[in-house]
Amino acid sequence: MALVQPANDTGAAAPRPQLTLPARCFTDPDLYNIELQRIFRRSWQVAGNASDVAEPGTYLTCRIADQDLAVVRGRDGELRAFYNICQHRGHRLLNGKGTLKVTITCPYHAWAYGLDGRLRGAPNAENVPGFDPDSVALASVRVEEVGNLVFVNLDADAPAFEEQFPRVREELAAFAPRLGETQFHHRSTAMLDCNWKVAIENYGECYHCRHAHPSLTAGLIDPDAYRVELHRNHHRHSSAPPASGITLYAIDEAAGDHSREFAAWLLWPNISLQVNPGGNFCVFQYLPDGVDRTISHVDWHFGPWVEPAERDRIVEEHRRDTMQEDIGLVANVQIGLNNDGYDRGVLMIDQASPQAGYSEHSVAHMQDLWRDAMGEAFTDI
Ligand code: FES
Ligand SMILES: [Fe+2]
Repeated sequence: MALVQPANDTGAAAPRPQLTLPARCFTDPDLYNIELQRIFRRSWQVAGNASDVAEPGTYLTCRIADQDLAVVRGRDGELRAFYNICQHRGHRLLNGKGTLKVTITCPYHAWAYGLDGRLRGAPNAENVPGFDPDSVALASVRVEEVGNLVFVNLDADAPAFEEQFPRVREELAAFAPRLGETQFHHRSTAMLDCNWKVAIENYGECYHCRHAHPSLTAGLIDPDAYRVELHRNHHRHSSAPPASGITLYAIDEAAGDHSREFAAWLLWPNISLQVNPGGNFCVFQYLPDGVDRTISHVDWHFGPWVEPAERDRIVEEHRRDTMQEDIGLVANVQIGLNNDGYDRGVLMIDQASPQAGYSEHSVAHMQDLWRDAMGEAFTDI
């Protein structure tokens, strides 16, 4: 779309609205492969729930940006992450999650690694001249615990989580003081027929809420009170309850001071940590699975104050309503991005209410972060 900028009476250029990224940024497989390298291999991603690796010897596995990883709690209590690959001939080491007896033993030729990743033994090694077992170790990956989650980052030089997302840990703990008592309950997964950016941009703005999410705006948030506050690499979402009161969740004041409010921390590029009224904790992840396919996981964590039947009701209603509504929205956007009749549109950034949830300033910011992450050749897109 070509925007002609008319001069005003003083001869100065009229304000220029900010445009979306061109459609090809959401449809080009070559760009997608660059994104995997420059964005997903350099950002903090959720590996799993900290409760799965709380005890010495426990482990979990995950797949981040096409890479198989394992997170292991050592006998020394230290949490470590590794590429889940044997250093002999490359067999995958661990599956799922569980508890290790003494070592990580490769299923192929039984090389055995300590829980610190160092090789402890290789059958017949004594008869291989020059082979030095002490020089062999699993390739390690950065790992951090945040709240009840484990995050990993494939980039050895990436800034620490706290540097990347200042104060998020602290704010989350202050907002949901009983977060530590919540436990993972259920994962809702959907395959989205869209590029990952379509999915996170959709999460990131509430311009569509009133129109497209009737149950959300009736029973959870007030779209007029919804705020999105921008930080360098994350957004803080918040909303007071709707005027009619909260109907989607049973509210137990025991959940903490903010038990009637909604808050979320959207972490660039693809994650949101969301605290719902009642202190229920949700982790949203939008995982790229091809240029026009995204895996959406919503992990639900509940505190002991939420009755089992209530937990199931909350999960089911979200899956049936909001999730389903968004599945349709993002798939239809991707259809449009592939259509010759569309290239780019105007982002509706509300200059009068800069933090309003119905403004698309958050989308503009994510697109700026995308340009920065992709490098010089993309600066002027
Ligand atoms: S590939 Fe692991 S021991 Fe051979
Ligand atoms: Fe939505």
